[in-house]
Amino acid sequence: MNVVSEQTFWGPDFDALEQQDPEIAGVVLDELDRLRGGLQLIASENLTSPAVLAALGSTLSNKYAEGYPARRYYGGCHVVDRAEEIGIARAKELFGAEHANLQPHSGASANLAAYAAFAKPGDTVLAMDLKQGGHLTHGSKVNFSGLWFNPVSYTVRKDSELIDYDQVRDLARQHRPKIIIAGATAYPRLIDFAAFREIADEVGAKLMVDAAHFIGLVAGKAIPSPVPYADVVTATTHKVLRGPRGGMVLCRAEHAKAIDKAVFPFSQGGPLMHAVAAKAVALREAASAEYQAYADQVIANAQALAKSLETEGMRAVSGGTDTHLTLLDLRPVGVTGGEAEARCDAARITLNKNSIPYDPAPPMKPSGIRIGSPSVTTQGMVESDMAEIGCLLSRAVKAAQGTPAGDAELREVASAVSALVARAPAYPRG
Ligand SMILES: Cc1ncc(COP(=O)(O)O)c(C=O)c1O
Repeated sequence: MNVVSEQTFWGPDFDALEQQDPEIAGVVLDELDRLRGGLQLIASENLTSPAVLAALGSTLSNKYAEGYPARRYYGGCHVVDRAEEIGIARAKELFGAEHANLQPHSGASANLAAYAAFAKPGDTVLAMDLKQGGHLTHGSKVNFSGLWFNPVSYTVRKDSELIDYDQVRDLARQHRPKIIIAGATAYPRLIDFAAFREIADEVGAKLMVDAAHFIGLVAGKAIPSPVPYADVVTATTHKVLRGPRGGMVLCRAEHAKAIDKAVFPFSQGGPLMHAVAAKAVALREAASAEYQAYADQVIANAQALAKSLETEGMRAVSGGTDTHLTLLDLRPVGVTGGEAEARCDAARITLNKNSIPYDPAPPMKPSGIRIGSPSVTTQGMVESDMAEIGCLLSRAVKAAQGTPAGDAELREVASAVSALVARAPAYPRG
């Protein structure tokens, strides 16, 4: 839990912000109020520790450090070098990786670097269909991955809603991709990395695991690691892992040079050294016994919440979850994903509408929602709290917003949410 005293959390710098720019200081405080006053169920969000926030708010932000430790294009980098070296060592140790790069500004930047290391424009990349849980960087036509590369998509099976490994193999044999990507943005189940490795070897493709969502569970040893199987693992540092917003690449030693060159100078300029330092802080936190217990609890909470919502009549895609996230099909309760998102918003429950596999509805009006347990777990909530959240979420989803009775119901749910989060607040006052 992130217990902080107002004094140490904000320190004199926040006083300076309040004095010099009350408008932006107001935004910061209002956002803190929003986090404290409601339930954050966005699967890709979390509540970073005061130590991570301190590194992010430090003067390391000032330093230009193009290049890598001891090989910089600027003077005066000997101090920030230490942050990057410590962070790289921690990442390698935590994940058992031969090489780590902490400079990607985001998960999308990490993915761009992996593409650049292993493929040329026009090459074929095999990845999960966006409509079934793949990410924009896995071949969307509005993204570099779909514009500069030739994406081929695999899907989940209609019956089980699990990845169709036979189809992945067939498509790989047919299209001979340069890269095969395993990993998604809305897939609740474990991925069979050994199966992907076998398919990649058969067709001579590089295996890239986009672990953006679940790397934090791997860090906590709560699910199997892709590192032994993948040529390259890309990740974000701000989801379950609970670090600063940013990206990371782990790879085999043989690919280290190609990956480093693909991050800088190919796709980025100067690294954000405050973010690199904050990643190092988060990686240290992730090596603790407390973090491992948190990672196990994230999954236990996601499973308890999924079960509670199934009891309320919603359908968990693929029958449940092995991870931190659940996709819910709302057709059985006659509500669209958009309606559910708006109603939950009014009840101080933050989540997002999401397409479900083979969704008959268009992407802007999808049939489902995606929910995740990282933030509420960081707040210290456990399975019994999930049962309560499931009940409140269901009441909100089913409330006829815009009618007097529905709006009254949403107000009631909002006050029940306030009472619930008061017992386990985000960023509790010290
Ligand atoms: C699977 C996957 N890859 C990459 C990304 C991109 O991360 P970022 O938003 O940091 O660019 C995301 C973000 O949600 C993701 O889910």
